[in-house]
Amino acid sequence: MSVIHIQGMQSLNGTILIQGSKNAVLPVMAASLLHRGVTVLTNVPGIQDVFCMMGILESMGCCCRLDGRCLTIDASRADRPRVPEGLAGQMRSSVMLLGPMLGRFGEGATSHPGGCLIGSRPIDLHLSGLEALGAKVELAGGTVRVEAGPGGLTGREIALGYPSVGATENIVMAAAAARGTTVLIGAAREPEIETLCRFLQAAGAEIRGIGTGCLRITGCARFRDTVFAIPGDRIVAGTYLGAVMAAGGSVFLKGAPAGHMEANLRLAREMGAGIRIREDGGGIDASMDGRAKAASFSTGPYPGFPTDLQSVMMAVAAAGVGRSRIQETVFENRFSTAKELQNLGAHIIIDGRTALVDGRSPLRGGKVRAADLRGGAALVVAGLAAAGEVEVSGCGHIRRGYEDICRDLKEAGARIWMEEGAACEGRGGES
Ligand code: EPZ
Repeated sequence: MSVIHIQGMQSLNGTILIQGSKNAVLPVMAASLLHRGVTVLTNVPGIQDVFCMMGILESMGCCCRLDGRCLTIDASRADRPRVPEGLAGQMRSSVMLLGPMLGRFGEGATSHPGGCLIGSRPIDLHLSGLEALGAKVELAGGTVRVEAGPGGLTGREIALGYPSVGATENIVMAAAAARGTTVLIGAAREPEIETLCRFLQAAGAEIRGIGTGCLRITGCARFRDTVFAIPGDRIVAGTYLGAVMAAGGSVFLKGAPAGHMEANLRLAREMGAGIRIREDGGGIDASMDGRAKAASFSTGPYPGFPTDLQSVMMAVAAAGVGRSRIQETVFENRFSTAKELQNLGAHIIIDGRTALVDGRSPLRGGKVRAADLRGGAALVVAGLAAAGEVEVSGCGHIRRGYEDICRDLKEAGARIWMEEGAACEGRGGES
């Protein structure tokens, strides 16, 4: 079993290069299926979920080649409208193939992406959106089948009851291949949606209202070969900002997309971090002197505070001083990291969707286990502040979203190393 070891109380100094965005590259990879040709993506992170998505596309007949951080997808001969069961259950993003399969093949099937540790994560909004475009949906024995009518999909006005990121992405991809125009009201506004829309525009689709909650997508009969750069990962950048806040020091987060991190940066400043955004757009200089101050925040859809950084900032608050109050409004079960932090001496009380964190004495060393991707990263952040050695197991979760968290933090002087062990543990499906 692989275990990450951290010797805490070592301040961080230097530069950390921020990888390409996991939650941006996955839908763009799925969207490449729409085009009977070649898509080249640059700044692609070398993470488990990307490898899994490559496997899914290859199982459909695409050819994928990753050279460093440049991914070439040739979808010209894709002909199998089915996500293999073994891969579908590895990550949430397999559900995002439904829209592209409908657009490309007029049909598609995948196993239900399955629940996970952060909530039930139903797909009703995905399916009702695709039905609104004319798809027939059938759920049987854990398999989701979709089929467009004989005339294919037809654009129309759709109102989302909740700004679901994945549902927005699925509907946008299907609408990009539908006849006529789709107006999607109540769309998610996460930066990853903007990236997907800009990719589809570059490939030939006409999309208006990008960055707003009302998207107007006019379907495109033929897409074109595209070369597209994936932006930096705002959640990875926010994770390493949390690391500086926990450990202290001064780090340049190179490639951090500051323009999409407003809520994160606002909270960091409130908790005492020094933040300077480079004029050249090259990233963020983050510094921390002493322990973090208490703060209260609530997660929410973008531009609210990102739920994916909730556990990281819980770790920062637990290592800091004073009473913080955290509300998780997006997922109904995303406080599982709290009990692991308590093993390191954190004082946290959970009351439904509210966590009360009381920063007192510094955290202590101990053994903890990652239960999900971002919770695992939060435990590493906690380890950086601990007086003693922290061992984090369940690293398979972390590798799904972070290229190499040990390499990145070691670059900035952290005393951290991976003890490679038995076959990987930790299951996908959390994101
Ligand atoms: C995406 O998940 C991200 N994953 C998540 O990041 C992120 O936490 C989430 O958006 C919210 O920002 C990827 O992009 C791969 P949602 P997604 O649909 O699309 C409910 C990470 O760590 N809902 O916006 O699954 C759902 O239950 C991962 O990188 C329905 O009720 O999120 C949840 O309560 C974790 N019905 C809320 O909406 C639906 O059909 C938000 O889910 C869909 C969602």
